[in-house]
Amino acid sequence: MKNKIIELYQKIYNNQPEKVYFSPGRVNIIGGHTDYNGGAVLPFCINMGIYGAVSYRNDNLVRIYSENISRSGIISFHLNELAYDEARGFANYTSGVILKLKENGYSINRGFDIVVWGNLPRGGGLSSSAAFSILMATIINDMEGFALDGINMAVICRQVENDYIGVNCGIMDQFIIANAMKDHALYLEANSLYYEQVPCIMDEYKFVLINSNITRKLVESNYNQRQKETQDLLQILKEHVDIEYICELSPDDYSKYENKISSDVLKKRFKHLVNEHHRVKLSKTALLQRDFKMLGRLLNEAHQSAKDLYEISGDVLDQLVLLARQSGSTGSKMIGGGFGGSTLNLVKSDNLDLFIETFTSEYKRIYNREPIIHIVAMEDGVREI
Ligand code: GLA
Repeated sequence: MKNKIIELYQKIYNNQPEKVYFSPGRVNIIGGHTDYNGGAVLPFCINMGIYGAVSYRNDNLVRIYSENISRSGIISFHLNELAYDEARGFANYTSGVILKLKENGYSINRGFDIVVWGNLPRGGGLSSSAAFSILMATIINDMEGFALDGINMAVICRQVENDYIGVNCGIMDQFIIANAMKDHALYLEANSLYYEQVPCIMDEYKFVLINSNITRKLVESNYNQRQKETQDLLQILKEHVDIEYICELSPDDYSKYENKISSDVLKKRFKHLVNEHHRVKLSKTALLQRDFKMLGRLLNEAHQSAKDLYEISGDVLDQLVLLARQSGSTGSKMIGGGFGGSTLNLVKSDNLDLFIETFTSEYKRIYNREPIIHIVAMEDGVREI
């Protein structure tokens, strides 16, 4: 992979890159939409992601080429023209990261030539956009010697999504990609950024990703609508209880305050959030104790809640989850922002071959094509390679 990106760089710019980096995609085991409500999440990084090669230039031009979006060719902008520009397409993440770094006191004066290439399906629910923004932040941080740590980079890249791109996401994706450790999941409380690296020995059980092949861009989906609903819900709750975030409340508090909410929709969002936050804590313990049966149950409950209460699943995702359970998974759920993307399945290692065989034949019967299946392990976050 490293060779491929170096060769590509030489072809595009007729020059050698100075450095090469890799930024992985992420999977969230559990904790759906809790992050922007001050709750906990439990993600890890996978071994698919985005490679980036870079060299300094002698002027203030930034040029970037993506092999995955080769039709756009080389996109360029000057360091003094960092405002969002529709025509810049994906490279808005590059200008956005540079602008937010500048606003945070880290300006750069010299441009770069960058090439990126990745094997993350776009819209596959594996957070290709956070992988890309963290890649950009890491390249600049490292080349410029800014010494920002993974937490600061995550905070800045979240600002890029929220204020520059316009997706009101939480911090989970940026945080895990900047801080992940091999063979660990990361337990993060999004309100305080308190986190723990949770060691996971995945020999008895494996995580299997299945791509629904339904792509969606968060900015176009109902993601922002969910964020807005929960803001409204928080305002109502604040009239009755002294909280800053919905996930400060427990499942017991739900019974206490549910009658203060007149909207059935907001009641459902409320119930999902407090239970999901609680499930993340139980899942962390289950992982530590290697209680995979318990973890599987929690994953199943989380999917049900995402479907019925937060209403972010869809027919295909539900079907994939059902098929996976019928094929022998211990637990299955949708992951990511919702409305498409992938499912995560916990499968006993001894059953893995049979699971894949059964799932594949049933999937082919229904959809008349091969499913996209990846067995994933917990890998390090962004790094120079
Ligand atoms: C997207 C967002 C995250 C998080 C998840 C849902 O991946 O970027 O911040 O809200 O959706 O859990």
